Amino acid sequence: AGRHFNSLTAEWEMKWDPIQKSPGVFDFSGGDRIVEFAESRGMRVKGHALVWHGATPKWVEALSAPELRIAFEDHIRTVAGHYRRRVYAWDVVNEAIDDSQPGLRSTVFSRGLGPDYVAEAFRLARKADPDAQLVYNDYGGEGLNRKSNDVYALVKDLKQRGLVDGVGLQMHISAASFPAVADIQANIQRLADLGLQVNISEMDVRVKDVAGDATAKLARQRQVYRDVVAACVAVPRCEAVTLWGFTDAHSWIDSTFGADDPLLFDEQYRTKPAFFGVEDAFLRR
Ligand code: XIL
Repeated sequence: AGRHFNSLTAEWEMKWDPIQKSPGVFDFSGGDRIVEFAESRGMRVKGHALVWHGATPKWVEALSAPELRIAFEDHIRTVAGHYRRRVYAWDVVNEAIDDSQPGLRSTVFSRGLGPDYVAEAFRLARKADPDAQLVYNDYGGEGLNRKSNDVYALVKDLKQRGLVDGVGLQMHISAASFPAVADIQANIQRLADLGLQVNISEMDVRVKDVAGDATAKLARQRQVYRDVVAACVAVPRCEAVTLWGFTDAHSWIDSTFGADDPLLFDEQYRTKPAFFGVEDAFLRR
């Protein structure tokens, strides 16, 4: 990781649950270790994520609405304040758009704070860390579809209010079926045209369902990595590609989608064909 990457993101350690497992008790040790590693290697760090329903401790779910508002403000202020000047960007709100119906997902935050909680989170993050690029991050809206239209509408509104600076497209995809690359590029372009920075924020490419033997799967994976990263490289404001891990020895995919080999290095940390697909994209080959 230290040799091949120039940017680092915490997969878990900077989320609400690990940082504030009990009310008012903040533990930055996991996140700090990651920041120290990055700094020792001259890598930049993107914070992930201030507000995400998927990593909210139980005690937050039990709060009354007024208590929730206080905890929400306190968490964002304390965490963004702690990492000020040490992260260049924050995923401020993660996965707020619903999968199956238009608009916001129903979460502890939308129910307790109302739909304006997204804007409120960005306002609080801006105050706590005025230098960080503030990002909205989501999945399933990489190409052109209802969800990406909803993300577009959300960030357009936030941008007009000066609250958001960037959008992260997670890009957890399968090489057997994923959005058309032309649609991914068009989506990146329309977000960039709003004046937003865009990044691919959590890329991994599953191959289990690709036809053929292991060699064929890995060749297909190489092509998909190349084509998708090239869609980012083609748009100047698409400024970064983050992978959700780098070795197949450690990937969240195995426990969530079943055993797979979604990353650039194999379980022995050897480069896979996918590694060279990403290289081709960056070298515009
Ligand atoms: C996942 C991590 O990879 C896991 O290690 C953790 O147990 C749960 O969270 N979308 C996101 C990421 O935005 O934060 C999630 O990361 C994967 C899905």
